[in-house]
Amino acid sequence: MTAQPMITQTPVTPDVDALGTWLPVPGYGVLAVNAFVIRATRPVLVDTGPAVLGDAFIQALERAIDPARLEWIWLTHPDPDHVGNLAAVLQRAPRARVVTTFLGMGKLGLLGLPVDRVHLLNPGQSLDVGERRLLAVAPPVFDAPESTGLFDPSTGALFSADCFGALLPAPAAGAADVAPELLRAGMIGWATVDAPWLHRVDRGRFRESLQAVADLQPKRILSSHLPPASNMTATLLGNLADAPDAPPFVGPDQAALEQMLAA
Ligand SMILES: [Fe+2]
Ligand SMILES: [Fe+2]
Repeated sequence: MTAQPMITQTPVTPDVDALGTWLPVPGYGVLAVNAFVIRATRPVLVDTGPAVLGDAFIQALERAIDPARLEWIWLTHPDPDHVGNLAAVLQRAPRARVVTTFLGMGKLGLLGLPVDRVHLLNPGQSLDVGERRLLAVAPPVFDAPESTGLFDPSTGALFSADCFGALLPAPAAGAADVAPELLRAGMIGWATVDAPWLHRVDRGRFRESLQAVADLQPKRILSSHLPPASNMTATLLGNLADAPDAPPFVGPDQAALEQMLAA
């Protein structure tokens, strides 16, 4: 059995903290799993981490902000690594509404989320966080159709959901701390795992979707699965541009898994 992963609360900008952990991926390294707190006038929690973190997630959240102050819980998509502590957060955040899409609401309803705690927002629409508005954006790479990212025009921060994630050999404080070739290989590897449909897409249309990110001119990319990346947008976009032509991912089978466990 692996030990319970650690979670750290790290300031990224004056008004954003990352609540981050690293999950081991046997045979492939580690994967960052990040939630974020945006201390706007109407504060936002972006995702709620994997359930395996349990109380440790709540404690990290409480170091970043009093959960009772949260007004929005933005769920990039309802995968288990993003909604694992949602019920516990909702209990401590009685005013908070869960921001998602129509499909996300359907999936969350199956997990027991009542409709009166939901706020629907589509890409292109924006969320009122008090002194400013945050723009919902469709990430160019995703593993669930309801995936929605978040762009803060006032700070240039792009919360990109699973997009721009990377399988890395070891944890790192920032994406800039990873050797460029390891970052590139890790990003392409993650993209082939998380979005196998990339191999089938029209390359020109895919480049257009990457250009849409470039047009936002994000200063910081805050992915759910990458350490914070400042002033690296062109590099990250360049890495992703090559993912559709990388070899498709085939996961280990049972025999390979047993070998890994034995090792
Ligand atoms: Fe996902
Ligand atoms: Fe994810």
